[in-house]
Amino acid sequence: MGFVAHALERVKPSPTMAITSKARELKAAGHDVIGLGAGEPDFDTPDNIKQAAIAAIKRGETKYTAVDGIPELKAAIVKKFARENGLTYKPAEISVGSGGKQVLYNALLATLNPGDEVIIPSPYWVSYPDIVMLAGGTPVIVEAKLADGFKLKPEALAAAITPRTKWFIFNSPSNPTGAAYTRDEIKALTDVLLKHEQVWVLTDDIYEHLVYDGFEFTTPAAVEPKLKGRTLTLNGVSKAYSMTGWRIGYAGGPEPLIKAMATLQSQSTSNPCSISQWAAVEALEGPQDFLPLWVASFQERRDLVVSMLNQAKGLTCPTPEGAFYVYPSCAGVIGKTTPKGQKIGSDEDFATALLQEEGVAVVHGAAFGLSPFFRISYATGADALEEACRRIQRFCASLT
Ligand SMILES: Cc1ncc(COP(=O)(O)O)c(C=O)c1O
Repeated sequence: MGFVAHALERVKPSPTMAITSKARELKAAGHDVIGLGAGEPDFDTPDNIKQAAIAAIKRGETKYTAVDGIPELKAAIVKKFARENGLTYKPAEISVGSGGKQVLYNALLATLNPGDEVIIPSPYWVSYPDIVMLAGGTPVIVEAKLADGFKLKPEALAAAITPRTKWFIFNSPSNPTGAAYTRDEIKALTDVLLKHEQVWVLTDDIYEHLVYDGFEFTTPAAVEPKLKGRTLTLNGVSKAYSMTGWRIGYAGGPEPLIKAMATLQSQSTSNPCSISQWAAVEALEGPQDFLPLWVASFQERRDLVVSMLNQAKGLTCPTPEGAFYVYPSCAGVIGKTTPKGQKIGSDEDFATALLQEEGVAVVHGAAFGLSPFFRISYATGADALEEACRRIQRFCASLT
């Protein structure tokens, strides 16, 4: 359509949202569908956080606020970075937006010029390349292989860097694989980055609290303090506090970048929701005792899904360290045929046939830049998960 800007020709609607709405449609039409596409925890927002929002409404905290966050929230974020990550930021080095996605968008739009390159390991969160392209930059996709636990090797990072590289986007634990980098693995990457002063690091730590088997989370600016002056440490309350709908994300980084991001936000959305900001203060400052319970529950579900998928004919499912996703390979079913005569030529065919035949919604790996795989979000009840895995096993066994 000629009326729509060229910039939009470069981006796709989020495929994960597309699969979620397809599953919702089928469900509404009376089909028995289990949706494993959504990237949000199934827990309710903790009550103390809800109460803080209600109290904020009653106090009349219902007006415009400072564009990139109320001082109380910035102070809580400064404390959070110090307490949990060993990172020292001043309030002027903190930016709060309407979700981690807006903060990421602000950072890229505020810094990219045409021809600037952004290194993104694949498989990646679907929004990274599209936001880079929307901002006029060039995504440079570098594969993080299954054989390497879906973690980028320093040699691969080094080989991808050019004089035009502006950002390296790093995400651990990862969406879609759940892979999380150890301190040594991060150090190997930051050692490469130290040699290239033009490259900034955008680390997306949104799944920081969801790690299993005692895994110790850490973040690039903490591993290599010499990089802190060119690192944006992105986080948010969506995943750890089950607050996806409240839309609060934040980042810590050098003041000139934070200022530029605020300028951009001042001419787009202005401040994030005032009530949500007060809820986020409570999330960060209030009791954290529900978190180990949630993590234990996610770990149980991860183990269930990994074990059941590895029993499905033609699938191989690695055990991820964090987040609430698994990213199994479906290489063993490519080339096979469904009982209705449909050929499985790609991971997209696999996901489509699985939804049609068994009513299980997963997202195909091509959407995340690495095939033939698919992503399952296990942030859903254990009974539904078990049933979904049984259906996947039955579907795989039916292929010839
Ligand atoms: C890796 C990653 N980063 C950032 C986000 C953004 O979260 P929000 O905008 O809800 O803060 C998501 C959400 O799915 C994600 O998976």
